[in-house]
Amino acid sequence: MKFEYIFLLILMASCGTKETEKVEKSRITTAAQNHSYANTDAIHTKHLHLELEVDFKLEQLRGVARHKMENHGANEAIFDINGLKINKVTTGTKSNEVDANFALGDLKDPILGQALTVAITENTNQVNIYYETTSESEALDWLDSALTSSKNKPFLYTQGQAILTRTWIPIQDAPSNRITYSADLKVPSDLMAVMSASNPTKKNPEGIYHFEMNQPIPCYLIALAVGDLVYGDLGNHTGVYCEPELLKASMYEFEDLPNMMEAAEKLYGKYAWEQYDLLILPYSFPFGGMENPRLTFANPTLLAGDRSLVSVIAHELAHSWSGNLVTNETWNDFWLNEGFTVYFENRIMEEIIGKRGADNLALVEFFELEEEMERIKTSKNPEDGHLFLNLKGRNPDDGMTDVAYVKGAFFLKTLEAAVGREKMDVFLASYFNHFKFTSVSTEDFVNYLNQELLKKYAIDFNYEEWIYHTGIPDNCLKIESQSFEEVKDMAKSFAAGKDIFSGTVSKNKKEVSEPLNREQYSVQEWLTFIRHLPEDLESNKMKSLDDKLHFTTWTNAEIQFEWYMKAISSNYTAVNPYLKSFLGKVGRRKFILPLYKVLYENEVSRQNALDWFNEFKGNYHAVSSNSIAAVLGL
Ligand code: BES
Ligand code: ZN
Repeated sequence: MKFEYIFLLILMASCGTKETEKVEKSRITTAAQNHSYANTDAIHTKHLHLELEVDFKLEQLRGVARHKMENHGANEAIFDINGLKINKVTTGTKSNEVDANFALGDLKDPILGQALTVAITENTNQVNIYYETTSESEALDWLDSALTSSKNKPFLYTQGQAILTRTWIPIQDAPSNRITYSADLKVPSDLMAVMSASNPTKKNPEGIYHFEMNQPIPCYLIALAVGDLVYGDLGNHTGVYCEPELLKASMYEFEDLPNMMEAAEKLYGKYAWEQYDLLILPYSFPFGGMENPRLTFANPTLLAGDRSLVSVIAHELAHSWSGNLVTNETWNDFWLNEGFTVYFENRIMEEIIGKRGADNLALVEFFELEEEMERIKTSKNPEDGHLFLNLKGRNPDDGMTDVAYVKGAFFLKTLEAAVGREKMDVFLASYFNHFKFTSVSTEDFVNYLNQELLKKYAIDFNYEEWIYHTGIPDNCLKIESQSFEEVKDMAKSFAAGKDIFSGTVSKNKKEVSEPLNREQYSVQEWLTFIRHLPEDLESNKMKSLDDKLHFTTWTNAEIQFEWYMKAISSNYTAVNPYLKSFLGKVGRRKFILPLYKVLYENEVSRQNALDWFNEFKGNYHAVSSNSIAAVLGL
């Protein structure tokens, strides 16, 4: 407190108040634009070394973040923090440390957090920040053993993207700044620690672990998990970490990982990160997957038992190129991460399951994009339909819509159709190679596209319309799927009262005479069937579908989600005990946010939404619980 005060006084005395005001104003504008307070142009971290103790009793990380920095003559270094307690700041190398003055910005922005300003000299190139996390450190999910698979050891994991790394590490939290990192951690001796870095494959009996990430990454990719973990090798530098009882199921589900890697490398060149492992997290994990380098964090709902949901893993693997190697410069350029990744994911899946299956995966997404685009058109931010976003002053999370993902991917699919696959593949491989280990803005991409593809081959393509306008352009690639047409028709005729269960059905032009059963269609085909049922199907019809096809008890999270959505809008309350238990267990935002939303919007089920959220909110990561609380008006 004392240091901060003195430092502020010095600051105010050294510049006139007008000058300070001006500097302060411009700082706030840049911060709002970049979602970071850091003065990275003047001084920026090159290497971060963490020394931390993981304390499950206090649910706290404590220690020091040592920043080795490149200083261009700055006399202050500004870091981002949010929900951290700063105990002391020093400059200089370990054992030669000198206390430094620091100040916390007095404005704590609800989205950005606070600036931590450290007084330095123009020769300073190491800043050491002694700190501890608090209950407001939203990246951290501390789980009681009851919420794990074994139910007898606690678990901790972090989620850094988009701007939550600053809630567990004081850091210059902008995706344009790449750093290498290392860490020395002390954890309870019965648990294993893993990071987005070189990892152990066995527990250390003293609970001491050392990590290195020697390739420069944006700091939203720094990640940590601590739990009762084991490792299974899947071959070809791939493998899986999980709780012991999930090992067999995980090794089966993701057996194709080496093949995915081969397919990916064939497309866009050698994998840059040596090792590619998965970490199966507890159910509270708010995403399907998170592409932390060398160690994708994955949701256990992917363990469907039939490999039907592995495209999420293809997606996270693809991020090893699009996102981790070539990174969006700001969160406005998020589509460069996700759109490219969805496109790439689909190319990998084409190799693994063939063109027809991959087309169906893409079509499921396209259907979602169309719905999202309708929503965005009438929302208060219709310009969110652009690929290049303007998230100034907003939460970068707002950019996480199907526009970045699916419109982005269909932009590339349409471009591919226009230039031919061969040229497209050469172009993308050279794009990843040219920009590797750097951050790229939409403008950089457009320039490269013009230079290396469009001008080179005199191709006319409406990229401006795709990138800077809302809606789905008319030239968007159309995907046809015969099996989807079939299940759509089946949904319509069922709703109209036709018996679809007995007699013959035709599939791929063949007459099949068995009664309708689950095995006749893929998970994606069933999802499409459920989606094309009316919003308010009579309960007796919902029940007869359930009696024959058992959607309510099908333990495939995608099917459960789609079916429960339909059940809520149709007031088919027989699902309630199952829906409640799903919401009590799964924390993946993509599923539970829309479920709470439709529950809440329907008068019949509104009270359930409130009661169940109240009962289960402690089971969710802050990313999910904050989004749901907002939707429920809490
Ligand atoms: N990087 C994202 C997750 C993310 C994005 C977290 C923005 C925080 C902010 C990840 O790769 C992702 O897209 N996950 C999807 C998978 C999917 C589209 C296949 C998910 O979790 O649903
Ligand atoms: Zn992604």
